[in-house]
Amino acid sequence: MDLRYFCIARGRIAIDSLKPMGGWSSQLLLLYLVVLCSANYVLCGSTSPYVRSEYPSTDIPLDNEAFVIPEGFNSPQQVHITQGDYDGKAVIVSWVTTSEPGSSEVWYGTEENKYELKAEGETTNYTFYDYISGFIHHCLIDELKHNTKYYYKIGAGSSAREFWFQTPPEIQPDAAYTFGIIGDLGQTYNSLSTLDHYMKSGGQTLLFVGDLSYADNYKHNDGVRWDSWGCLVEKSAAYQPWIWTTGNHEIEYRPDLGETTMFKAFLHRFLTPYKASQSSSPLWYAIRRASAHIIVLSSYSPFVKYTPQWHWLRAELKRVNREKTPWLIVLMHAPLYNSNTAHYMEGEAMRAVFEKWFVKYKVDMVFAGHVHAYERSYRISNINYNITTGNRYPVPDKSAPVYITVGDGGNQEGLAGRFFEVQPDYSAFREASYGHSTLELKNRTHALYHWNRNDDGKHVPTDHLVFHNQYWASNTRRRRLKKHKFPSHAALFAKYGKILDSLP
Ligand SMILES: [Fe+2]
Repeated sequence: MDLRYFCIARGRIAIDSLKPMGGWSSQLLLLYLVVLCSANYVLCGSTSPYVRSEYPSTDIPLDNEAFVIPEGFNSPQQVHITQGDYDGKAVIVSWVTTSEPGSSEVWYGTEENKYELKAEGETTNYTFYDYISGFIHHCLIDELKHNTKYYYKIGAGSSAREFWFQTPPEIQPDAAYTFGIIGDLGQTYNSLSTLDHYMKSGGQTLLFVGDLSYADNYKHNDGVRWDSWGCLVEKSAAYQPWIWTTGNHEIEYRPDLGETTMFKAFLHRFLTPYKASQSSSPLWYAIRRASAHIIVLSSYSPFVKYTPQWHWLRAELKRVNREKTPWLIVLMHAPLYNSNTAHYMEGEAMRAVFEKWFVKYKVDMVFAGHVHAYERSYRISNINYNITTGNRYPVPDKSAPVYITVGDGGNQEGLAGRFFEVQPDYSAFREASYGHSTLELKNRTHALYHWNRNDDGKHVPTDHLVFHNQYWASNTRRRRLKKHKFPSHAALFAKYGKILDSLP
């Protein structure tokens, strides 16, 4: 129920009952009601008054050290990895060489400088108007052991380069794991600040919610800015998987340049393990990692009823097993709930199609980007929306996800600084600053979440809460667990001192 209306209604009932009383007693009671209503307003969320002095929203020059190209003939550059299968026992390694194709082999092993295993990849390239890409290599290494550190080597001779990654724990409900979330990164000094802060956060895998390089903001969608972005993120993406979601800046539909293949650069440069989740497109897919089932959706591909994405999501949600992966997380680019004037209502079509499934399957959280600011909702839904009956307001719904917009990576377009006033009741917290989020899955029942603002070089945890798992929070399942595995709200608050994911 809309808390303000509840408050007003409660006040009206009480005031009506005061009429025969009169005098001081009625005035005191009225004062009490005003205070009570004010308290309810506080629970309705807040807009941060924080205003930062930001770096200019301009891209880092190409000759900056942030884009440094490794020395040596045909040395591998723009190295990045992503999960290569459904359950985290495979990795796709990707990189670019520029002088000649070179080898697509990856040598790897569990001891440093000892590479006993070899996988053979393949090479591709593409053109975009007057840009010719380098040789893009992709190599799947599979049959890895869980929870193991692997070292890998790519390239030849003195130009070879070495990296490492850690495989996730086996899929099981109490596997602890930390995800980072970044969106709309771009390649400005703010982007670099976000990336540097994220790398100190302890995140083990990054969930990227779309809009990568912003190369399409350059003349003829200059592919050189795809290359520089690949160099920028290598220091993180070569060592831990980045899970890719596409945004509008990946579409690159330019019929005026003769370029009509949508997502052309993205699809050549970034692979996803879509076939492992029975998807028909690299743009929507799912992975399971530790205790999480992560569903990636494409805001800019058909999703209405009977389309491939709709069919796939319906089937994938049925495959989710909360007994094995309690945490159900959805990634997309355009947010379904957004009270910023930028990109207002752009997620509404997808909300109308998919929201009822998110509620039915008790999705824990939906992360999106696109809006260059931060916003978190309460658990709300609008699945009773009906244009003939007049139902049209989001309402508190304990089965609904928390919607979080993290489109604040720091790209050249700057911040989306104007929120609608008054703040909607469903909006819990919002702030127009740059930053990233971390989600620490502790066990099957609870997780800690932070949004971390970049404050001119400082790392500032600004929004934080404890998530109760949507599946294991049910009374019947709670009873199945031993008491110590599912601490009460009060105990969690005492331990972590953080607010919870829904209204008390
Ligand atoms: Fe976007």
